[in-house]
Amino acid sequence: MTEIPEHLLKRSKAAKGKSDGGGSDDGGAGPESASSGEASSSAPVAASPSTPAAPAVEFPNLDPTPEPPKPEPSYVTASKARNRIPVWALPVVAALPVWAWSYAGTMQQPEVEDPVFIESAELYTSAGCAGCHGAGGGGGTGYQLSDGEVITTFPEVIDQMAHVARGSQAIQGETYGADGRRVSGESGAAMPAQLGTLTRLELELVIFHERATLSGEDMDQPGYEDWMEHMREQAESGGGEELLDEEYLDFLLLCANPDVTPGATGEGSPDPEEQPCPGPPQEGGEEA
Ligand code: HEC
Repeated sequence: MTEIPEHLLKRSKAAKGKSDGGGSDDGGAGPESASSGEASSSAPVAASPSTPAAPAVEFPNLDPTPEPPKPEPSYVTASKARNRIPVWALPVVAALPVWAWSYAGTMQQPEVEDPVFIESAELYTSAGCAGCHGAGGGGGTGYQLSDGEVITTFPEVIDQMAHVARGSQAIQGETYGADGRRVSGESGAAMPAQLGTLTRLELELVIFHERATLSGEDMDQPGYEDWMEHMREQAESGGGEELLDEEYLDFLLLCANPDVTPGATGEGSPDPEEQPCPGPPQEGGEEA
């Protein structure tokens, strides 16, 4: 009996104690039975992951089922897209930016943005012209200027410039205008002279407004665009700021037509290179 090592005896005792329900042993048997008990209880747990291996075959069946919905969105989204923008409307949608651009182009006509139009319109009011001739040039204390009226009186810009600068009282009782259309002062009121009041550029601008904007003068006629460009340049560079005076009026009378403007000579500018006659070039006459 003594031949059997003591540690082996202890182990067999522990095995007996475990099968007996334990508790009868004392000393180190307790810890050993507890560790073996843990091992036995952990064994089933370790075994259980291997059992789900059978259900694991079923999972692949579950996965393919969610997958089919993936093909669906392809036409679901297509139909959704069709609901928002129908295929037939796609060209319309594609053309929208172009249309918006061209529409904005029609809304903002070049004339509206042109400082020549804007400043001349403001000047017509601020210089008091609108007060006597009407905001739209329909007439009042002064003659009607709209509907071609002022162009009938003054076929050329230069004659209107001379008349407005000088006013009506300086030529009281004299005939002026194309075909002797007017007699100065005949209306019973006076057209105030603009000497010392308007600048050279302002005179051109306000007359441009009366002719082009109020009276619908043909702006495509030869030289008209050049005249507008001249005003544009002066407005930007600050040119033409000298106030109208007698000297400048004399210059205007050299350029104006004696058949339309009393006191005019029609000689033309003494220095056409340095100081050309203002307004669009006249048809004949200036080189007299
Ligand atoms: C105080 C009122 C008054 C103001 C301000 C006034 N005018 Fe006149 N205007 C008249 C009267 C009145 C006549 C006609 C005078 C006459 O009987 O000869 C006239 C005549 C004219 C004529 C000649 C038209 C034609 O067919 O015979 C022109 C062009 C003109 N004015 C432009 C202007 C301009 C440009 C301004 C602004 C700078 C202006 N007027 C400011 C009262 C005015």
